[in-house]
Amino acid sequence: MKEKLQALLSLATEEINASSNLKDLEDLRVKYLGKKGEVTTVLKNMKDLSQEERPLIGKIANEVREAIEVLLENIKEEKKASEIESQLEKESIDVTMPSKRLIRGHKHPINVALDEIFEIFLGMGFKIAEGPEIETVYHNFDALNAPVDHPSRGLSDTFYITEDLLLRTQTSPIQVRTMKNQKPPIKIIAPGRCFRNDEIDATHSPMFHQIEGLVIDKDITMADLKGTLDMFAKRLFGNQTKTKFRPHYFPFTEPSGEVDVSCFKCGGEGCRFCKGSGWIEILGCGMVHPNVLEECGIDSTIYNGFAFGMGLDRITMLKYEIDDIRVLFENDIRFIKQF
Ligand code: DAH
Repeated sequence: MKEKLQALLSLATEEINASSNLKDLEDLRVKYLGKKGEVTTVLKNMKDLSQEERPLIGKIANEVREAIEVLLENIKEEKKASEIESQLEKESIDVTMPSKRLIRGHKHPINVALDEIFEIFLGMGFKIAEGPEIETVYHNFDALNAPVDHPSRGLSDTFYITEDLLLRTQTSPIQVRTMKNQKPPIKIIAPGRCFRNDEIDATHSPMFHQIEGLVIDKDITMADLKGTLDMFAKRLFGNQTKTKFRPHYFPFTEPSGEVDVSCFKCGGEGCRFCKGSGWIEILGCGMVHPNVLEECGIDSTIYNGFAFGMGLDRITMLKYEIDDIRVLFENDIRFIKQF
């Protein structure tokens, strides 16, 4: 029995030393010291030994068990340390490696132009106002003095949601909302998305952007309107820019006009860009109609004012010489990045 125990110890020592990982070590622990392990079995069979032999063999068996335990423990520590080391080696971070490039977005050209327009008008004391894209027929047409039979009200021109609700066709309803909510003096610009039932082509999109302006105070004249818009055009297109006011019709202003700027490409001589005329149309404007003021609760015998509205997409296209509106909405970063 003594020999058997000693043989077990030397076999176990050999196997433990030869083991290659923590899993092998655990298997060996079970093999020798587990409930049905070889050393355990010897200890269990002690009852078959004689009185004299029992303490001697018991002592040796315990020594063998302890020796195997210590050995297992030592090798286990070694293995753990080397496993951690090799893992650290595998997972080591090379801080000199080039990093993954984060692809940054880019401000959309419409927003680049809008920010520039904001800058100009905020500098003149305007505040920014906003309104809903889903509007009532009342705010979009009725309160703006639009005749009941005005063609823009038709189904072929306007997206209706219900009989009373539509996708706003212009930013002008923001004027109505502002006048109803604020007392004069009022001085706002109102940017936003607008919608019209248009076929898509190089210059038309069913979704587009406008920016509107409104000034209400006492003793406002056409001279204020002209001065403001002339200053705006010079700031946006360059100091040499001239403006021309042509009569026009809008239901919500009287008199109404359209503004052309001298072509900033040819300086007014006529070129492909301005279609030979030397002028480029940029906006509509006028003196706010008394009917609109009264409808919005402003006494038209005391107050008056001017308003203007322009297509932001068109301004962006002019400014950056973009010849197709569709590229503004295709969201191609290669295009957007150029501005
Ligand atoms: N709402 C007009 C349009 O969509 C643009 C416009 C013209 C706005 C004259 C105004 C204005 O405020 O006074 O064509």
